[in-house]
Amino acid sequence: MIAQRLTARRLVELLGDWRGLGHSYRELSESVTFLVRDGTIPVGTALPAERPLSEALGVSRTTVSASYQQLRESGLAHSRQGSGTVVRTQRPLPAGDAPASEDEIDLTTACPAPWAGLGALSARAFAAHPEAFELIGYDTIGQLELRRAIADRYTARGLATAPEQIMVTLGAQHANFLIARTLLRRGDRSLIESPSYPNAREALAATGALVAELPVAADGYDAASILSIAARTSPRLTYLIPDNHNPTGQSMPQELRSELLATLTAQGGHIIADETTAELTLGQPRPVLPFAAAAEHAHQRDSVITVGSLGKSVWGGLRIGWIRATPELIAQLEVSRRISDLGTGTWGQVIARLALEQYDEILAERAVEHAAQYRALAEQVAADFPEWTLPRVSGGVSAWVDLGGRHATRLARAGAKHGVRLAPGPRFGSPGVFERFVRFPFSAPAADLRESVRRLRAAWDEGAVADPGELTRQAVV
Ligand SMILES: Cc1ncc(COP(=O)(O)O)c(C=O)c1O
Repeated sequence: MIAQRLTARRLVELLGDWRGLGHSYRELSESVTFLVRDGTIPVGTALPAERPLSEALGVSRTTVSASYQQLRESGLAHSRQGSGTVVRTQRPLPAGDAPASEDEIDLTTACPAPWAGLGALSARAFAAHPEAFELIGYDTIGQLELRRAIADRYTARGLATAPEQIMVTLGAQHANFLIARTLLRRGDRSLIESPSYPNAREALAATGALVAELPVAADGYDAASILSIAARTSPRLTYLIPDNHNPTGQSMPQELRSELLATLTAQGGHIIADETTAELTLGQPRPVLPFAAAAEHAHQRDSVITVGSLGKSVWGGLRIGWIRATPELIAQLEVSRRISDLGTGTWGQVIARLALEQYDEILAERAVEHAAQYRALAEQVAADFPEWTLPRVSGGVSAWVDLGGRHATRLARAGAKHGVRLAPGPRFGSPGVFERFVRFPFSAPAADLRESVRRLRAAWDEGAVADPGELTRQAVV
């Protein structure tokens, strides 16, 4: 199946600063490989015809032919009658399935290590709650005790919530897509911050909705422009990460929230407030008011669907997230959910319940850990890349680093050659934008962060770029 045909102009945009020091045809095939591996060019995409691409890139047709030939030989693409060269797989040949080398540092995921107390919690789960393991072991809404614990936490944070307003999900991304496919129809308008969490953007787009963008910068929010775009777009569903945003690490100013909320809900629109990273602060834990609490009227508050997760605070492997919405919408989501999954496992829910009993303590430990990791990253960047700008962040798991030039994709390729995997900026916006930025997750251990910056410096100085065979896993989470 042909998912889409890429025009030469579009591919040139996506390639950005692709020329390294090697042979042009190799540089080109390696750059295309990189874009396929990180999901920017989806499987099933027909690449541009050779002649227009060679003209658009200003290289000879032989260069393009040779690079397409190399893509075919690697198994990444194949020739299709009438369609030309089509991307066939994201991970070709055995190299794609090989485990990452031991020495490799993977910064494409912003996932903290499991919380240190997880083992003890698991051991307690069986001992303390044997009754939970006597039933079928999964359900579509969530155990009442867990829903109550989640609801109580919202109430304590300043947003009165009852257990019937909560559904337990398989993590936050499951929640995002479930909401999107329940509320959006093909052709509806949706809105997302730019940059934003790429999987959420894809969840909106997968419904067939149009996805408009709300620009947010690493150094602040332009309230007037945000409100004007929100009013003009009048979206049916908006996806926001109001606190400790992924990837920028910034939080929306309090004074913008109620006005934005009023604007976005004026025509009956809903808002997903993804709070996966909201309570992950740096240094000192501080109370974070839920986004919905900024609503001035009950109907506006009811239009906010809040998503949360234990994925970054306790462990991603638990696959425990949740949705807070009106009881009516929760009921609708539960029906919709059964089409695609049959529920959340009891095991994870019991551990989640125990984790929430000591959640403040867990968050306090994370705040200290992340602050130290952020500091290590900042020091190493200052030492090795004084030309980069690493903004101060209020929390979350990542910083949006300005490279001072449009070479994020090239840096990511150079890093891969030296055993560092990075998510380049374009992964977080619409194709071709954010070439000046990379997302640096400070969820990684300090030693890895320091080492990865040193390796990037060496890679950049060498002008090296990755061999496609060395690029393995590129999904961004
Ligand atoms: C903003 C945001 N939402 C959702 C997710 C996915 O979370 P989960 O692992 O709970 O599905 C992430 C993970 O990176 C995230 O940063």
